Amino acid sequence: MALDVRNLSKDYPTRSGSLSILRNVNLTLDRSESLAVMGPSGSGKSTFLHILGTLDRPSAGTVRLDDTDPFALAEADLAAFRNRRVGFVFQDHHLLPQCSVLENVLVPTLVSRDTRPADTEAYARQLLDRVGLGGRLDHRPAELSGGERQRVAVARALVLRPVLLLADEPTGNLDRTNARSVGELLLELHRQENTILVVVTHSLELARLFPRRMEMEDGTLVPV
Ligand SMILES: Nc1ncnc2c1ncn2[C@@H]1O[C@H](COP(=O)(O)OP(=O)(O)OP(=O)(O)O)[C@@H](O)[C@H]1O
Ligand SMILES: [Mg+2]
Repeated sequence: MALDVRNLSKDYPTRSGSLSILRNVNLTLDRSESLAVMGPSGSGKSTFLHILGTLDRPSAGTVRLDDTDPFALAEADLAAFRNRRVGFVFQDHHLLPQCSVLENVLVPTLVSRDTRPADTEAYARQLLDRVGLGGRLDHRPAELSGGERQRVAVARALVLRPVLLLADEPTGNLDRTNARSVGELLLELHRQENTILVVVTHSLELARLFPRRMEMEDGTLVPV
């Protein structure tokens, strides 16, 4: 399996003792698979997604992505691994306001040593075309609609052809129509690019688009 999560636990130390957020979570996903994660606020969905994306470390258990244990890597290698293998889409687009749409999509390529600039720029343009923004390459984020900004964030997340595409409430700030189209876009690109897709959402409408759905409950993932 491309993604293999075993007995993953996460505790946060607090002044009043240890807070157990994730407890023995197990999950395997193949390259062709997608998953929607639902669950109440504070149940640990973002914590889980951050660990999958190596932004946070587990307290126990293992994550393997394409047979690599990222948490066994040295810090610099881990950063390169994250940049190269994982794409993130957040609720807020996190675009750089002073950069154009095309420049924003190219940001991950600036720190990647093993990509050819000409290839990645052509691919960035192609992705922007596919998300419907081929005519907005020179716009600044402030000159885009909310849905368009989120589409740029999707293109940016995919520009280095990650194994794993993670999205935390990607449609949380969008109206219903834009939410649906960004959700469909994520699924379409996941299928075309053969990238694992894990989306955290409170929206049942978005979750319903996914063939596989799970809920975070008492620190573990249960199928719904
Ligand atoms: N750095 C931290 N230190 C201590 N506790 C934390 C830390 N980060 C998160 N938590 C706690 O972990 C729990 C899970 O947080 P998380 O952000 O994963 O929830 P969530 O399921 O994504 O919620 P939401 O749907 O509101 O986004 C929360 O109770 C939160 O208070
Ligand atoms: Mg969250």
